[in-house]
Amino acid sequence: MSDRIHTLSGYFYEYQKSVTEPESFWARIADSFHWKKRWDKVLKWDFEGPNVRWFVNGKLNITENIFEKNLFAYGDRTAIIWEPSEPGEDVRKISYKELYHSVCQFSNALKSKGIQKGDRVIIYMPMIPEAAIAMLACARIGAIHSVVFAGFSANALTDRIIDSGAKAILTSDGNYRGNKKIGIKAIVDEALEKSAVETVIVCQRTGQDVTMKAGRDYWWHEVIVGEKDSNVAEEMDSEDPLFILYTSGSTGKPKGVVHSTAGYMVYTKYTFENVFQYSPGDVYWCTADIGWITGHSYIVYGPLLAGATTLMFEGVPTYPDPGRFWAVIEKHKVNQFYTAPTAIRALQAYGTDPIAPYNLDSLKVLGSVGEPINEEAWRWYYNHIGQSRCPIVDTWWQTETGGILVSPIAGITPTKPAFATLPLPGIQLAIVDPEGNELTGNSVEGNLCVKYPWPSMIRTLWGDHARCKETYFSTYKGMYFTGDGVKRDHDGYYRILGRVDDVINVSGHRMGTAEVENAINEHPLVIESAVVGYPHEVKGQGIYAYVICDMAHRTEENLINEIKETVSKIIGPIAKPDKIQIVSGLPKTRSGKIMRRILRKVAEGSTDNMGDTSTLLDPDVVTKIIEGRK
Ligand code: PRX
Repeated sequence: MSDRIHTLSGYFYEYQKSVTEPESFWARIADSFHWKKRWDKVLKWDFEGPNVRWFVNGKLNITENIFEKNLFAYGDRTAIIWEPSEPGEDVRKISYKELYHSVCQFSNALKSKGIQKGDRVIIYMPMIPEAAIAMLACARIGAIHSVVFAGFSANALTDRIIDSGAKAILTSDGNYRGNKKIGIKAIVDEALEKSAVETVIVCQRTGQDVTMKAGRDYWWHEVIVGEKDSNVAEEMDSEDPLFILYTSGSTGKPKGVVHSTAGYMVYTKYTFENVFQYSPGDVYWCTADIGWITGHSYIVYGPLLAGATTLMFEGVPTYPDPGRFWAVIEKHKVNQFYTAPTAIRALQAYGTDPIAPYNLDSLKVLGSVGEPINEEAWRWYYNHIGQSRCPIVDTWWQTETGGILVSPIAGITPTKPAFATLPLPGIQLAIVDPEGNELTGNSVEGNLCVKYPWPSMIRTLWGDHARCKETYFSTYKGMYFTGDGVKRDHDGYYRILGRVDDVINVSGHRMGTAEVENAINEHPLVIESAVVGYPHEVKGQGIYAYVICDMAHRTEENLINEIKETVSKIIGPIAKPDKIQIVSGLPKTRSGKIMRRILRKVAEGSTDNMGDTSTLLDPDVVTKIIEGRK
């Protein structure tokens, strides 16, 4: 724990060191890990390629750093507490030693099925411990996992199977949503009608009927029979990919963000321990799903590398009632609680009655992630959940950054509502104007970039390095561009303002507007569509779609429902537009570009001043759209 920051001056000291001597700074942190072979050079990089390599030629396995390195010291400590969706069902507590054996045994089973180092394995599973075991088992043998959120549709799954060239899928029979059982394997079957993998392994969760295809599909509980519960971890190079995680961008096709092994390991552990000020024995709970980067870095890898007890929750915040989060905190005496603003706002709507029955005295730190947290939600969280005594860490980061880049250190960095505050050690930020000039000094606003590499940064997009360069390293020369707008206030504190590209953030989930448009356009009667985000009380942003269609013999209501269903089928229910307006035309410039600025204003309901519309091909369209909204 020597890398722990304990004071504000300690933070400034470490930050300074990380900027003036980045290589010795990260070498010191990396030295506390177990390496099969130490690195030759800490960092080689250029953002032109981009080509970024951390801990060059180091050899290691991330799971040895979770298990072998520590089992002697704390093998009996609880690694995972699993809280099922149904409050009456038994909790599972899995010690580090038990987790080690399960991971080894399952990784041996994967090997027996012919899965090897470098193979891609898709994990499409609910929030059960086996999902974490699946990830770690892949890492153990050097297979590259790609977790796909189990709320994505068969179609979205097919795209990811094909893009990653996956050899296997690890899944479950079904999952629970409140008191409903939802088929998961059935979705995999549907996805495999248009794609192929050699092996499917199915973990039994709900016990519902599934179809098993002979020679391809196997039960998890059967494949592990006879497999040894120990093995030697595969030797991985520092830069070997650990996982691919698909995320949305400003084009229609999701991007496979690739993270490599050593840098990701070093950075997630370091940031987990520091940001949350985790102490051994604490119970830490992050409510994310493992299908998102937060689940990867701060449910599984970061906490387990730090020897933490990490709670995994299968359910939803409102089942069986809106007091569930608070009941779980009391039940497991949770010390650090990390959730999303959208969940806070949704629960805030129920008032404080659902909190009253529970004792939340165990809480020490609260966290927020995924989208800007508005001041009102921040204060509610602080006063009612943190009882005005727990610091809130508003953590800003992205799928591409692998770990938290801007955040308070809990209890150490003075906080301000809605501010992610200061960059963590190693993170050199730049705010730039549209021309790419860096805006120095305080009280400035612009686009957020990072001008120096950090260990857990994106290395490439799977199968498309050119797109990686184009998306992140070409907008501003020599810098990684985040896609977010930001303000640095008079104290030098950072406040994230939200996306400046065609990405919208719905309940903390990233959606590309083009991706939603593509899905809408799949409806046979749709001619053209344009999607924008608009402020939504609970979700942060909602999806507003303007659609031109052939009405055929439909009523507007029927058509709107059909379009929503189409999007649900193509991407998943999370991408369903909140509002659909059928329009006769879209505001386009003479060159055919849709003026989204205007559509955003209409969606927000601020239609008084539409700005300059003189470049529009047909300015009347705007009047019609405004009228149609009414
Ligand atoms: O716009 C920022 C927002 O979420 C985006 C990244 O989304 P994703 O890759 O799905 O990762 C989410 C979890 C790390 C960012 O570009 N975002 C994330 N955290 C914050 C945030 N916006 C404001 N404040 C945050 N704390």
